[in-house]
Amino acid sequence: MADLFRKKVVDTTPQANALARTLSWPHLVALGVGAIVGTGILTLIGVGAGLAGPSVILSFAIAGAICACAALAYAEMATMIPASGSAYTYSYVVLGELIAWIIGWSLILEYSLVVSTVAVGWSGYAAPLLQSAFGFPEALAKSPELGGIVNVPAVFIIGVVALLLSAGTKESATLNAVLVVVKIVALAVFVAVALPTFDAANLHPFMPYGFPKALSADGVERGVMAAAAIIFFAFYGFDAISTAAEETKNPGRDLAIGIVGSMVACVAIYILVAVTAVGAIGFARFAGSAEPLALILRELGHPKVAVFLGASAVIALPTVLLAFLFGQSRIFFTMARDGLLPPSLATVSKRGAPVRITLVTAAIVAVLAGFLPLGEIAALANAGTLAAFVAVCTCMLVMRRRAPDAPRTFRTPAAWVVGPAGILGCLYLFLSLPLRTELYFLAWNLAGLILYFAYARPRALAIG
Ligand code: ALA
Repeated sequence: MADLFRKKVVDTTPQANALARTLSWPHLVALGVGAIVGTGILTLIGVGAGLAGPSVILSFAIAGAICACAALAYAEMATMIPASGSAYTYSYVVLGELIAWIIGWSLILEYSLVVSTVAVGWSGYAAPLLQSAFGFPEALAKSPELGGIVNVPAVFIIGVVALLLSAGTKESATLNAVLVVVKIVALAVFVAVALPTFDAANLHPFMPYGFPKALSADGVERGVMAAAAIIFFAFYGFDAISTAAEETKNPGRDLAIGIVGSMVACVAIYILVAVTAVGAIGFARFAGSAEPLALILRELGHPKVAVFLGASAVIALPTVLLAFLFGQSRIFFTMARDGLLPPSLATVSKRGAPVRITLVTAAIVAVLAGFLPLGEIAALANAGTLAAFVAVCTCMLVMRRRAPDAPRTFRTPAAWVVGPAGILGCLYLFLSLPLRTELYFLAWNLAGLILYFAYARPRALAIG
């Protein structure tokens, strides 16, 4: 049984001058904000408000604080083990094969479902524009649960992004910088237009559904924590920063400022947007909307600004899709290279793009995006991410014990506070997810374990 926990050995010696060190912390903050801001703040804010009422503001603060702890641990591991595969690889090196499999399997779930979620969020903003421009039928822009037939725009955008990736498109720093500005300007305009209408009466009662997850009369689990468990989605994507470690001028300092800085920036932006939204028209009016921020602007009498915000979302969100669909193929690729998944899944085209897995994944996530409601897919994506974050915090603490003197490009400050806070916080968020999501997640991992023992374990390349 010992080989269930056999460990992978990776070459962690820093490669001298592998990449030019040109970035410093302002670039990293831009990179982080660019990767993080997406469907979470633009759309899930409505889902969160429906679960927590005005105290969704608190949900943002809680999810942000927990995510910041995980982000710091992530940065330490990313700089210690600069190999592709992120949390899966760290777990393989530090905790052994079985845990690595569970984390890799959870990451596949996370990355796939983030793509579905962001596509549905994109559709929420794109559909009204399509409707007013071409009379696009409403039933073709909604999942069956919301009274539609299929969410065609969500399927369409996944197809476009998958084709771009198959053609070898990578994230571009310049495009990313432009889109960060588009996103931030859109949110700033929203705040500038809606904040002056702030009415404190809209914040009462502040916590209509209480703090911990609790079943409401209508059978929905609500509360500040239930909302935080969904809103958590809005904060991840910062892996982009740690992967830039090798190109950072002064990683020890710049990474810390980059990660903490982009987290603080996002928490501040999100809370400002949430206070503005809730204070402007009261949560109940935008809670179920597919484009809550645009709806608020229209209700306040600013239809043109609403169109501007919608168009900004439509332009900027596909980069989040690109990043996650690309990241997913990287996880597949690393697991297949380790022998845990069929090597045929990770074949790369002449232009270096993992075409087959990208198209297979895109087909699956497109079906999910076409037929499932947003909140449900986001919750399951969060479950996978929370598992990965717990693993990364654990890896950081284990390595502090096992190899206290190993060189670390970046050291998490107060690691013995931050690490346990990250682990406990993520567990609390997991327990605050809908019970149904927790069961789906366990079922996914049960299926994964069957696959592990039936297929992967006998074929894993004997490493370590
Ligand atoms: N944080 C990213 C978003 O909200 C995944 O879209």
